[in-house]
Amino acid sequence: MAFDHRKYAPFKPVAKKDRRWPDAVIEKAPTWCAVDLRDGNQSLIKPMSVAQKQRLFDLLVKLGFKEIEIGFPAASQPDFDFCRKLIEENRIPDDVTIQVLTQARAELIERTYEALDGAKKAIVHVYNSTSTVQREQVFGLDREGICDIARNGATLVKEIASRYPDTEWTFQYSPESFTGTELDFAADVIDAVTGVWRPDQGQPVIINLPATVEMSTPNVFADQVEWICEKIQYRDALSISVHTHNDRGCGVAAAELAVMAGADRVEGTLMGNGERTGNMDLVTMAMNLYSQGVDPELDLSGMAEITEVVEACTEISTHPRHPYAGELVFTAFSGSHQDAIRKCLARRKDGDVWNVAYLPIDPSDLGRRYEEVVRINSQSGKGGVAYVLERDYDISLPRWLQIEFSKVVQSEAETNGGEIDSHTIHHLFEERYLKVAKDWTLRTYNLHRDDDGVRADVVVGADDTSVTLEGRGLGAVEAVSDALTRRFGVSIAVEAYDEFALGEGTKANALACIRLNANGRLCSAAALAEDTTSATLQALFSAVAQEVGEQMPEIMDSSESVSA
Ligand code: KIV
Ligand code: ZN
Repeated sequence: MAFDHRKYAPFKPVAKKDRRWPDAVIEKAPTWCAVDLRDGNQSLIKPMSVAQKQRLFDLLVKLGFKEIEIGFPAASQPDFDFCRKLIEENRIPDDVTIQVLTQARAELIERTYEALDGAKKAIVHVYNSTSTVQREQVFGLDREGICDIARNGATLVKEIASRYPDTEWTFQYSPESFTGTELDFAADVIDAVTGVWRPDQGQPVIINLPATVEMSTPNVFADQVEWICEKIQYRDALSISVHTHNDRGCGVAAAELAVMAGADRVEGTLMGNGERTGNMDLVTMAMNLYSQGVDPELDLSGMAEITEVVEACTEISTHPRHPYAGELVFTAFSGSHQDAIRKCLARRKDGDVWNVAYLPIDPSDLGRRYEEVVRINSQSGKGGVAYVLERDYDISLPRWLQIEFSKVVQSEAETNGGEIDSHTIHHLFEERYLKVAKDWTLRTYNLHRDDDGVRADVVVGADDTSVTLEGRGLGAVEAVSDALTRRFGVSIAVEAYDEFALGEGTKANALACIRLNANGRLCSAAALAEDTTSATLQALFSAVAQEVGEQMPEIMDSSESVSA
């Protein structure tokens, strides 16, 4: 059997009974380090050109990143050239520190410093693999052998740095494949490295704990981080960094729990680009903090520009449901969601803490518009359709018409199989409810009120063939219905009727909506007009026309008139 879970062994949890991180709350952003230009770039089908790297670097600076890993200059000529370009062309702002990666190998470390010559400040990031599988199967070395590689690398990093006294150096060490390394051994290697660098004596040092491969649930990674923070020497003099990958889809969760467990710094990439399933997504983690009221210390308000630049540089498109950045993440198609969003947004006042159902953050914070929030397809209900008409056309529908019209929209969506835009919704509404047949155009009306009610004289029809109708009733609608009954023999009972004044800036001042039972058939119509009475009477005529016919029929009883 090919699909056999017995091929795999469960990850052993950390035997830690005193874990404190589950009670921790993140109240401050970690130090961010963007590794898009190194780890992200190394994972691309087509690595970035120098121009693309420059564009992405400039974006990262604009967003507020203060530490940016720009490449692996000893391993790649374009990375070397890009590093030189940044330094020689003075393109690194004073408050930004570039970081470069190198393996713990003498010739690579030498070349790395050549690339950094002239930098005001820089982080030299040295790594070697420490995991059991790498030791045993890739390097064929025991723990001591691996520890020697790390210690020798650290020694060389320190030695060569002293030849460049004008640069402010930070040293960073990663026990690569940390998550697959026995914790006691990881602590030994880290201690061997910091024993050389001596952060306690003033040398800035970062210890980066990579989940090179995400191997466990994020809580286990948090245990590993907390364990290391407790066991290694010079903890207080060090910055503990984490670098998570997303193999199990939990790269962000793992980094968040790691910060709860004591990590000071987080490495990742915009949109999570990186090897295999990617690196930790900086946008998601930063926005998660933002949505909890924590300043992410990054400015992600121009999300459209971020996705545009990342897509242009990586040639990877953004998934439409990518957290915070995707095209559809602030869109509701479901009717009940649309309804809830509409109600919450209507109640919201300026200055209120954000508390809107289905929208974890205010889309406008990311440069997205409310207009994008509600979109209509066949699953949308009355709320969404009503919201779109109100938002874009200032047309408010009564509930009974919302229900009726949403069925019209739904059937159109089912027929065309996709999304229905606001223009189409309006067009459907016009066609179905607002269209006025020539023969049923209201020309003039006169309403006379007396003790018995209202007497109506109404002129309706095309210019040359208009007719005068007369009727009586308790109100205008009843009087005109009576006139229609007398003239055309149609029995009319009004089932629902609503009128609305329209907002400023619209041609018409009033909208009337009516549903009537005409000869036992339900007919609904709406009308826009300058005053509510005209709108009401026109809606009544349009509804009756649905039963009687668009062309006005021969008059049934033209001799009958109404007594005054
Ligand atoms: O994923 C990883 O382990 C790395 C290291 C080089 C930090 O990218
Ligand atoms: Zn990595």
